[in-house]
Amino acid sequence: MNEVSSSEPDLVIQVEGLVKNYGNTRAVDGLDLAVHSGEVFSILGPNGAGKTTTVEVLEGLRKPDSGKVSVLGLDPWHDGYTLHKKVGVMPQGFRFFDKSTPREAISYYASLFGTSPDAEEILEIVGLSDAADKHFQDLSGGQKQKVGLALAMVNDATLVFLDEPTTGLDPQSRRGIWDVIRNLKKHGSTILLTTHYLEEAEQLSDRVAIMNNGKIIVCDTPSHLISKYGSERKVVVSGGSKMYEYLKSALSFRVEAVDSESVQIYVPSSTDILKVVKAIDESGLPYEELSVRRDSLEDVFIFLVGRMKEGELS
Ligand SMILES: Nc1ncnc2c1ncn2[C@@H]1O[C@H](COP(=O)(O)OP(=O)(O)OP(=O)(O)O)[C@@H](O)[C@H]1O
Ligand SMILES: [Mg+2]
Repeated sequence: MNEVSSSEPDLVIQVEGLVKNYGNTRAVDGLDLAVHSGEVFSILGPNGAGKTTTVEVLEGLRKPDSGKVSVLGLDPWHDGYTLHKKVGVMPQGFRFFDKSTPREAISYYASLFGTSPDAEEILEIVGLSDAADKHFQDLSGGQKQKVGLALAMVNDATLVFLDEPTTGLDPQSRRGIWDVIRNLKKHGSTILLTTHYLEEAEQLSDRVAIMNNGKIIVCDTPSHLISKYGSERKVVVSGGSKMYEYLKSALSFRVEAVDSESVQIYVPSSTDILKVVKAIDESGLPYEELSVRRDSLEDVFIFLVGRMKEGELS
């Protein structure tokens, strides 16, 4: 029995010690996960980390080798039929029948689920109204993705799995899908997302799990991860080696040359920013650009996955 009874009532997904192998490849290696109702939860990780395998186990498409898995209080593998009616699924690299249109796909899925969704509304929400009657084979890559997203919406699911929904989309379409995700959340759905776009994860997610080699390395809100693993604020100024030498002697903060052009100064608190700007002004040296930045989730991701590769994290 792979089911685990939910100890907390608002837990929509609960996983303990999940292991999944493909032959000799251990794709998921003792994974623990808890997703709360109404969250946008993102699983991040490099190619081959085990994200899709994890999602497919949660969807009831793959049988776990060991571990306990509960999704909406059900065991996905044994209660797959019941679960499939309750969840929305957009698989990675979604494909559909070449000769079917997006409108037909929605109607086909609706008949499978026994629902009567407003097809026009769904097509409008995902931005497919103009391509509603084109054959799937004639849609662009991004439009094909949008059909996948549309189909994840036909059964008004309380839990939606989106495996790389925005991969390959243009920036505007990507933001369109962010709106769809925000809208689903606003209406109370829980969303499990995977993405390689760290900015997207930072913008949308209540919590993220960073996964590597089948394991979750860290799991928290994006802002907690950034404050825990990110560096302090930095002032970045151009001005080359002269600026670097001047600021190094004028300031007590850590000053680094990023490249031959840019210098970065780490400032512990926001009030120190003015001290740095004053020193730059007093240097009398010319500079083209001046900015203040904090580490993003992407910086933290690169740092953590890099540390894991170097064996500093297990
Ligand atoms: N059907 C399969 N048969 C054999 N090995 C597989 C299969 N699917 C995935 N794998 C292997 O399992 C590991 C995890 O793959 P998975 O697809 O879960 O990673 P992922 O994190 O989703 O990667 P990506 O970011 O590239 O989508 C990889 O080593 C992969 O080669
Ligand atoms: Mg994947």
